[in-house]
Amino acid sequence: MSDNLYPVPEAWARHARVDAAAYERLHAQSLSDPDGFWLEQARRLDWIVPPQTAGDWSFDEADFRIRWFADGKLNVAANCLDRHLASGGGETAILWEPDDPKEEARRITYLELYEAVCRFANVLKAEGVKKGDRVTVYMPMIPEAAVALLACARIGAIHSVVFGGFSPEALAGRIVDCESRIVITADEGRRGGKRVPLKANVDAAQKHAPVLEKVIVVKATGGEVAMQPGRDLWYHEAAAKVSADCPAEPMDAEDPLFILYTSGSTGKPKGVLHSSGGYLLWAAYTHEVVFDYRPGQVYWCAADIGWVTGHSYIVYGPLANGGTTLMFEGVPTWPDAGRMWQVVDRHQVEILYTAPTALRALMKEGDSYVTSTSRKSLKLLGSVGEPINPEAWRWYHDVVGEGRCPIVDTWWQTETGGHMITPLPGATALKPGSASMPFFGIEPQLVDGDGALLEGATEGNLVIARSWPGQMRTVWGDHERFFQTYFTTYRGKYFTGDGCRRDADGYYWITGRVDDVINVSGHRMGTAEVESALVLHDKVAEAAVVGMPHDIKGQGIYAYVTLNAGEEASEALRKALRDWVRTEIGPIATPDAIQFAPGLPKTRSGKIMRRILRKIAEGDVSSLGDTSTLADPSVVDDLVANRIS
Ligand code: WTA
Repeated sequence: MSDNLYPVPEAWARHARVDAAAYERLHAQSLSDPDGFWLEQARRLDWIVPPQTAGDWSFDEADFRIRWFADGKLNVAANCLDRHLASGGGETAILWEPDDPKEEARRITYLELYEAVCRFANVLKAEGVKKGDRVTVYMPMIPEAAVALLACARIGAIHSVVFGGFSPEALAGRIVDCESRIVITADEGRRGGKRVPLKANVDAAQKHAPVLEKVIVVKATGGEVAMQPGRDLWYHEAAAKVSADCPAEPMDAEDPLFILYTSGSTGKPKGVLHSSGGYLLWAAYTHEVVFDYRPGQVYWCAADIGWVTGHSYIVYGPLANGGTTLMFEGVPTWPDAGRMWQVVDRHQVEILYTAPTALRALMKEGDSYVTSTSRKSLKLLGSVGEPINPEAWRWYHDVVGEGRCPIVDTWWQTETGGHMITPLPGATALKPGSASMPFFGIEPQLVDGDGALLEGATEGNLVIARSWPGQMRTVWGDHERFFQTYFTTYRGKYFTGDGCRRDADGYYWITGRVDDVINVSGHRMGTAEVESALVLHDKVAEAAVVGMPHDIKGQGIYAYVTLNAGEEASEALRKALRDWVRTEIGPIATPDAIQFAPGLPKTRSGKIMRRILRKIAEGDVSSLGDTSTLADPSVVDDLVANRIS
């Protein structure tokens, strides 16, 4: 086993904020005296009215509620900006690395960011945006994206960021769901030398989103765009007309900060709603402790602001802590597979946080892209988004980090707001592939299919037995769906949707989703969403989508498609269907394999047996189980015979 256990390096054990003894003590205290623990922690934020109460919650249907610090008042943007000005106004808040390495990086100080946010907030106010209004943000990875989020927070508007890789249709659905009358976008985005027509996508989205009245356009590339008078305005023109002074709106801790849409096992994406006080505390506290962050360190979370990782660990966590957050516009493989390490050297990055899918893609290009750079600045590495396979873990540890940097493999979800199960670099001996131990205040449990608690070394479904400050508060517009989705599978507990193993040392190993969500390159995709996109195509009668193993992406998308009578299967149609899904949802939803199937395996009551489809997609055709209960068992033979490998 010793090969598989990486002890805490001595220097880390001595100097980290939390060592092994402190972890044990604080974790125990956080569970035995949650009120005392969390009221103490709340002091790391700047409150207009400090809270006197901590958690007030119940996961039971009769008195279901989740509230934290409910009598406190604060402003999130003031916590990320104003309070750092006196001592650190000249410190770098955002370090921006452009897509094209030949261009200059941008360094934005706290004072500059503060002024930019105030201006943006005043532009929003001038356009009639008020506290509680929803503002959709559809932006590339430029500093103005962070400015837009903080501007919303400053005036109490609720932002809803839509990933720039989503299609006009997907964007429209999200605008309509939260009734957002305003969108902030840019002329174009840039990624890996290619342009993304963001403004044109917004124009296309409006056709399906009549609620949209105003579009604020940031000039990013200078590319040609059509501006519609009365509806569209250039940000730089509007900003020139407003003052750089905007008071921060006092918000209740429970007032919403943002909505972020995420995929579930059924139906349309859900608008996950996060609070102001509890969320910010969670993002700030985890960022400081898990990354052992010290002001002055250059910290790089290589995610996109369109995902929760970008929200919590590019914007809110690091800025609440007065840190320097590196924002990268580009992609890891352009101009070449050494880009990440070149950026690390260029900016002397000390903490790097990225996803296993990126590591696997870079690993296959060979070590020379890594070893030709210095990386001496690196002290700590982080992983997020999907289980990290031990091979990628070791490459990250041995080649990228030259054996000297601990890896924090952080398990969490859009719903949890921030890290939940993760090593702490000064406290936890590491096991490659294990997210290891619960963070403070987190009480994970494993249960079997009937909800019976499993003790000791075992495997089961991962639930969280009590609330924590960063927990989502509702599904936008559908509180019943929130309760039904997360709190009815196992009564009185939050169900994560993940399977998990606990070993004899108490380490947690996430085994992946146990519901109909697949994780493609660390991005969540609901199989139902891809299916409904496919059946919208006029040649498709029926579709079933499952995950399949994929070397780089972790999971790929495998679609079984039944065509309408009289339609002919062909390579051209296969390509057309792939393109169709891309335009309906976005490139990340593109099926990796499409198998034309004359019939799908159904029970006599008409339910598709996805277990069988999963096995076939995985190539595991010898263990299909009992197929005799199918309405037509012969369809399975055809599926197996025509499986795509
Ligand atoms: C998976 C991303 C294993 C998990 C922050 C979870 C992980 C889903 C890890 C949430 C990890 C995330 N190890 N699995 N370190 N991190 N996951 O909402 O299945 O995009 O339920 O949040 O990603 O994805 P989401």
